[in-house]
Amino acid sequence: LASIRIDTAAIETGEQITVNWRGGPVFLRRRTEDEIAEAEAVDVDSLPDPVARNDNLSADAPATEENRSAGNGTLLIVKGNCTHLGCVPLGEAGDYDGWYCPCHGSHYDTAGRIRRGPAPENLGVPPLSWTSETEVQIG
Ligand code: FES
Repeated sequence: LASIRIDTAAIETGEQITVNWRGGPVFLRRRTEDEIAEAEAVDVDSLPDPVARNDNLSADAPATEENRSAGNGTLLIVKGNCTHLGCVPLGEAGDYDGWYCPCHGSHYDTAGRIRRGPAPENLGVPPLSWTSETEVQIG
């Protein structure tokens, strides 16, 4: 399917769901306020990949928490394939409380940004639009 719609209302704080979009996983995670504060506290220039990698923004937008978020409260929506060789990272794992890719040891933070390991880029943010307060269209 070129695009899918998901009702996010039932995603609890601290919970992640995974949907399938264009043959790959997409993670929807409702983060805690602490996880967001953790992401906001990071100096973007210190990141291995300081670019947002957000399909909804310009290619040079910085990888701030705001530029990575789904623009609706505490939700983060990111493509679920490691940017190294495509494995599916594990949620709420790794040294930065985001995702950990067990294939070769890449650690992503609570905004899905690569922090350590061989992955070259942040987890991508797919094209998103909100069709209601809680329903999001991906693609
Ligand atoms: Fe994730 Fe290699 S595929 S670290």
